[in-house]
Amino acid sequence: MLDSREISAKVLFNVFSGKSIDDAISSNTHYSKLTQRDKSLVSLIVLNSLRRNGQIEAIMSNFIKRPIKDSKFIKYLLKVSIVQLLYLDFPEYSTVHTAVEISKKYKSEKFMNAILRNICRQKKDLLKKTPQTLNIPLWIKKNIKGFLGETEFLNIATQISREPFLDINIKKDSFKERRWGSVFKGKNIFENVVRVKNHSNITKLPFYKDGVWWVQGLSATLPVFLINKIFANKNKDNISILDVGSAPGGKAFQLLDLGFKVKSIEISKRRIEILKSNFERLKFKSEIINCDFLNFDEREKFDCILIDAPCSGSGLMQKKPEILVTEKKIDPLLRKQKNMLKKASKLVKAGGCIIYAVCSLLRNEGEGQILKFINNENNFYLKSIFSDLNNLGVTLKSKTFITTPAHLSEKGGMDGFFIACIFKNDKL
Ligand SMILES: C[S@@+](CC[C@H](N)C(=O)[O-])C[C@H]1O[C@@H](n2cnc3c(N)ncnc32)[C@H](O)[C@@H]1O
Repeated sequence: MLDSREISAKVLFNVFSGKSIDDAISSNTHYSKLTQRDKSLVSLIVLNSLRRNGQIEAIMSNFIKRPIKDSKFIKYLLKVSIVQLLYLDFPEYSTVHTAVEISKKYKSEKFMNAILRNICRQKKDLLKKTPQTLNIPLWIKKNIKGFLGETEFLNIATQISREPFLDINIKKDSFKERRWGSVFKGKNIFENVVRVKNHSNITKLPFYKDGVWWVQGLSATLPVFLINKIFANKNKDNISILDVGSAPGGKAFQLLDLGFKVKSIEISKRRIEILKSNFERLKFKSEIINCDFLNFDEREKFDCILIDAPCSGSGLMQKKPEILVTEKKIDPLLRKQKNMLKKASKLVKAGGCIIYAVCSLLRNEGEGQILKFINNENNFYLKSIFSDLNNLGVTLKSKTFITTPAHLSEKGGMDGFFIACIFKNDKL
């Protein structure tokens, strides 16, 4: 049986080799034999090693002048040990001792001992001299620094090193029935959203089986909040909404809960299954279509098309820190987003709207993409309807809206999310 620190290093190694965290964990045969406490320890170490990767690499380069040649695994054991010593405040003696014991199997105990003892001696200095901005990889940094500014960039870097919270969205009728903040020992932060301490197994949270709530980050609830505002004075059963890129379903659940007429489209068969089982637990019913939106029949027209487009996910650096160590290919995503907008323009009724959203902080996936669309399409215009959301994000000059991890930071931050509300002229 392997020690949980050794398992953490192996999981980290696999994430760096391209596996998702979930796959890296589930493919580790030793992990399933751990106690719940040790499983949580592995998650804590792995997630924080990813969050602090830029800082850890900078520290390693101070002490290691030649590539580690004996075993690649040793590099990851070193990373998980550094995160324990510097950023998780684990006791020095046991952390170093465990790492050295594991290293014996790889004949690297002297190397490990020397580096870790040096790091312990220089702890204060290293913490002071190694800024959190190093954790944001260049492909994100160069994109957001000019767009959002230096101060916002620094604030984002600070926020993404912190443990994220879990946001729970409660069905509107159930929301009135109890004080959900107390039920979850959390805080009601916006509309029906209660923010709670992160939990490793959400199925153990109260009322899970009753199907009255789902997990959904606060930022991700805002597109439907805006749709509800747009159609506030209308009979919702008559408002047809095409929910594009539907799985796992957060926005579809909100729309159905509010009473809209929804059709959900999702390209991925695997994700459709997740969507269906979520619908079942939450007792929602609506049409789900497994197809590529770009090939969707254009005869039926909709009052609103909600495009939750595939994107870099750069807004989710805090919740999904593997984004910090895996560079995405942006060009194919940009092409897809552009084609989705074009397709939506043909499916929306005159006077209707397209709500475009991406969980990205990159300008070219958000504002840049939308401004190109508006410049090319004479019949569409942007409308700023974000006045209720002033404390959650910023309205950009282009009349679009963005939240970043630095917003609402006193309450735990937000996922980075971009939203545009595009209206089609009434008289064509
Ligand atoms: C950001 S996720 C959507 C999250 C979802 N709307 C929610 O609120 O839970 C984007 C989704 O778009 C789907 N997708 C990507 N390309 C698509 C396409 N061409 N047609 C339909 N769905 C697509 C992906 O499989 C993915 O599930």
